[in-house]
Amino acid sequence: MTGRLAGRLVALGVTGSIAAYKSVELLRLLQAEGADVVVLLSPAATRFVAPLTFDALSRHASESDLLSLLPDGRIGHIVAADTADAIVVAPATAHWLGAMAHGLAGDTVTATALASGAPVVVAPAMDGDMWSHPATQENVRRLRDDFGYTIVEPDSGPLASGQVSVGRLAELPRIVNAVVEAVGQRPVRAPDPADRPPRIESPREADLTGRRILVTAGGTAEPIDPVRFIGNRSSGKMGAAVAEAAIERGARVTLVVGHFTAALPSNAAIVRVETTAEMRDAVLDILDSSDVLVMAAAVADFRPKRTAATKLPRGEGLTIDLEPTEDILAGAAAAARAPGSRTPRPILVGFAAETGSLERAADKLRRKGVDLLVANDVSAAGSGFGTDTNQVTILDADGGEQALPLLSKRAVADILLDRVARALDERDAAAQTEPMRQEIGR
Ligand code: CTP
Repeated sequence: MTGRLAGRLVALGVTGSIAAYKSVELLRLLQAEGADVVVLLSPAATRFVAPLTFDALSRHASESDLLSLLPDGRIGHIVAADTADAIVVAPATAHWLGAMAHGLAGDTVTATALASGAPVVVAPAMDGDMWSHPATQENVRRLRDDFGYTIVEPDSGPLASGQVSVGRLAELPRIVNAVVEAVGQRPVRAPDPADRPPRIESPREADLTGRRILVTAGGTAEPIDPVRFIGNRSSGKMGAAVAEAAIERGARVTLVVGHFTAALPSNAAIVRVETTAEMRDAVLDILDSSDVLVMAAAVADFRPKRTAATKLPRGEGLTIDLEPTEDILAGAAAAARAPGSRTPRPILVGFAAETGSLERAADKLRRKGVDLLVANDVSAAGSGFGTDTNQVTILDADGGEQALPLLSKRAVADILLDRVARALDERDAAAQTEPMRQEIGR
């Protein structure tokens, strides 16, 4: 997103003037400059424009109640105060100017401005006599001279009362310019979206309808003898989250599961396996009829060279000779590209447990021949086996890296499936245009 406010968070305060309807357009203009906008409403403002209008357009729940908390327990107007790059109050009523001048934090607009270190831009709008009253003028003076706020003076013109005088909300581009100027070259205060007021996630449409998605989950187990095996701590939660999210978006999901402690999603076809070899056979078998493979399973890297037919006695101890297992993902990637296999080929997604640097992950993506690799930073708190959260970076074959904050595994699954859905659409578009390109020789 380009624009003079790209990457910025602007808190738009709306107070109870008839000009509140213009704030909706101001919101759009700020967004057109690239800003993420969160709206603060005084109680009177909500009687002019319904919060739903601002919520739907800003994709943030507007803050109108000082005493309500965000779903995650944070205090909404304080989060806005701490993360906004600028606060713009438009329209600002005479009452609001008075409350602000005296630090009376009785509504979310005043409270946010009071609690914030961000520059504040104020665009008053009111009746002409109210504007020229010495009380109002003194309040404006205080905001400008004592607080350092930018005042975008009202214009002259017809007012709601029928009068023609000074009091009309300034033309919106003037207000936008004042915000841009107030922000200037300051560093972005909260570049991480997780620190900002939470966004309302748009429900993912059924963008995977009819797609056949093969997901592996859980850990494989390699038998030592009939009662013992080499396994790992995988819970299967990440794979289950991908399967569940894909089903909700309309996909037909086959879940190949090894050892698994998470709840199995309903409505997925379940194939149970034990060993890496069994998982490989199942994957290769189903791959040809799949649009996507997501390898979320924790595959054992080694297996005993020999499996004892009977339970090994404790005896003198035990030395086990190990050999590497087959690389299921690399094998699947090779099979998908082999001559004679189904076209267009499936989108291939791998996971990788890494610590710190992502250099190895980029190399793994190439080595395995996958389209997307979800690198899981297992050194980060809250990531890894058994947790309900994960911090990942999604790498793609074009060298792109999408670093995500610590999120629920379900949220990670949805963001991953956004990428998968896009990759499928691109794949299908390319498959349609390829014959045309060949025909016209380009
Ligand atoms: N994987 C696989 N078959 C294996 C091992 C791993 O299909 N025998 C898959 C995993 O399901 C995962 C991806 O490959 O999607 C990466 O797994 P990871 O354990 O990070 O990589 P390794 O192949 O084990 O490579 P290394 O040991 O070098 O980290």
